Amino acid sequence: MKRIFSGVQPSGNLHLGNYLGAIRNFVRLQDGYECVYCVVDLHAITVWQDPAELARNTRECAATFLAAGIDPERSVIFNQSRVAAHARLAWIFNCVARLGWLNRMTQFKEKAGKQRENASVGLYVYPSLMAADILAYKATHVPVGEDQKQHLELTRDIAQKFNHDFGIEFFPLIEPLIFGEATRVMSLRDGAAKMSKSDGSEASRINLTDDADSIAHKIRRARTDPEPLPHSPDGLAGRAEAANLVGIFAALADRTAEDVLAEFGGRGFADFKPALSELAVAVLSPIAAELRRLMADPGYVDSVLAAGAERAAAIADPVLDEVHEIVGLAAR
Ligand code: TYM
Repeated sequence: MKRIFSGVQPSGNLHLGNYLGAIRNFVRLQDGYECVYCVVDLHAITVWQDPAELARNTRECAATFLAAGIDPERSVIFNQSRVAAHARLAWIFNCVARLGWLNRMTQFKEKAGKQRENASVGLYVYPSLMAADILAYKATHVPVGEDQKQHLELTRDIAQKFNHDFGIEFFPLIEPLIFGEATRVMSLRDGAAKMSKSDGSEASRINLTDDADSIAHKIRRARTDPEPLPHSPDGLAGRAEAANLVGIFAALADRTAEDVLAEFGGRGFADFKPALSELAVAVLSPIAAELRRLMADPGYVDSVLAAGAERAAAIADPVLDEVHEIVGLAAR
């Protein structure tokens, strides 16, 4: 059986990268797989979160899933802290994963930066919690953006070592699902930096809560170069900002970059940017409107999360029971 698991951190400012790299794919995978989608609040607290903001962001992240088209009847939507199996399995995986493996994680190095000694221990072992998220459901396929690839390789390593150490084929070796024309959306201000929630500049990202005016304003201000667009994707080499905008256009329009350049090749950004704005507003405005509507009805969103947590626990708890037995721990 195929089962999808993926997660998004409720750290505020969900943006176009989260949508095109992940959430939109979550929606599409519902036709064909059993899907479990998690708001990973335990991952969020690996860096400081204001408690009231965290609670609000958790609800907003779930509401974004719903607004984007994840159907809570078909898919399981819940937040991580409600299902104890995640933290419990993560501890066991902390004892399976090797220090050397975690030392190689580029995301830890980026996030901890020069403050390494002052980073939380949680930030360091973040990837074992992520492996626990996925494997508590024995998920087989994990849709993510490009930046999560290394974490998924670690998940495979943990599953493999667990199976090997205990001499049992218990955990599946997961397949990452990284697809679409925008698996790595870059900052609108800097084609070398990923579009990110934590970027200090609001102009660097299009938030899923942005209104039409701010979307248009940010695209107008997006960094570009003076050359016209090329006639094929080969001509985008060395033009990171142009490549990013073409990728965003293609993803939003559900077309290939080639197809977009067949239309816009030879034309300048003065033509391309207004077309991109119009498209982005057409795709994102209905989601923002639905998100606003849902945020005005917090009782409904919370009821989805509570019902989802029950369904999630019904899958994860028996897996954890088996793990306890395999490892020789007391019955749960
Ligand atoms: P997070 O919350 O940073 O991002 C959520 C999803 O959005 C994708 N993404 C992007 N895709 C394209 N371009 C971008 N600029 C961009 N920025 C973010 C991410 O790749 C991700 O798919 N560790 C994860 C959350 C997590 C998880 C899991 C994912 C926890 N447990 C289990 C999968 C399975 C994270 O921090 O994602």
